[in-house]
Amino acid sequence: MNSKLFGFLLFGFFAGVLSIDPITIRPEWFPPPFRPLPSTNRIKRSAQCYGDLGCFTNTYPYNNTGDALPLNPRFIRTRFLLYTSINDRFPRIISRAASDQLRRSRYNSNLPTKIIIHGFEQYGMVSWTRQMTRQFILKEPTNVVVVDWGHGSGWPYTQAVANTRVVGAEVAKMIEFLIEETGGDVSKFHLIGHSLGSTRGWVCWRARNRPRKDNWIGPSRT
Ligand SMILES: *[C@@H]1O[C@H](CO)[C@@H](O)[C@H](O)[C@H]1NC(C)=O
Repeated sequence: MNSKLFGFLLFGFFAGVLSIDPITIRPEWFPPPFRPLPSTNRIKRSAQCYGDLGCFTNTYPYNNTGDALPLNPRFIRTRFLLYTSINDRFPRIISRAASDQLRRSRYNSNLPTKIIIHGFEQYGMVSWTRQMTRQFILKEPTNVVVVDWGHGSGWPYTQAVANTRVVGAEVAKMIEFLIEETGGDVSKFHLIGHSLGSTRGWVCWRARNRPRKDNWIGPSRT
C-alpha cells in the first residue's frame, strides 16, 4: 500500500473515531430488552411497600391488574433524562440520590419544566419523546425531563399497569426533589403522558400540589 493511501486511511479512521460522541453510545440509552416482566401475582399478597415511595395494594380500585403488584423500583430503574436549551440532544441523568449532579446540570428553576412520560412497551429515548423535547426547547427556554421506565413497561400488560404506580410515585418524588433543591414552584411544572404514561392519578395524588398543566394523550383506561 502506498504511503499516501495509508495516510488517508489512517486519517479517515481517526476522524471517524473522533466524530463519535462518547455520550451518544452509552449503552443504558439503548432500548431495554423487552423480556417479559417477572410476574408478581403468583405471590399471594395484597400489598407491597417500597420505602419512601409508600405502599401499593391490589385491592379495589387497583384490582385491574390480575392481582399484580408493582415491581420493585430497583427492577424498574426509572430514570430521569434532563434536557435544557444548552443541552438539548444528549440528556443528563438526574437522580434524587444525587443533589450535586442536579447542581452541576443546567436545570433552571426559573423556567418551566416539562415532564414527559412514555407508555406501554416504550422507553425514554423513543423518537417521539426526543422530537417533543426538541419542539418544546425550540419554542421557549425550558427544562424537559423525560421519564424512562422502559425496564418496567413491557409485557404482560397488567404488570406494566401495576408498575405505572411506582413510576408515578417516583415522578412525584422527583418534582418534590427539584422544588426542594432549586427553590422552584410547582406551578411551573407541566406533565405530559402518553398511554400508560398518563399516570395522572398517581403523579398528582402524590405530589403535594397539582401542577399547573397536564396533558394526557390517549390515556389508558386501566
Ligand atoms: C374490582 O373490585 C370491584 C369492587 O369489589 C368489583 O366491582 C370489580 O368487578 C373488580 N374488578 C375486577 C377487574 O376484578
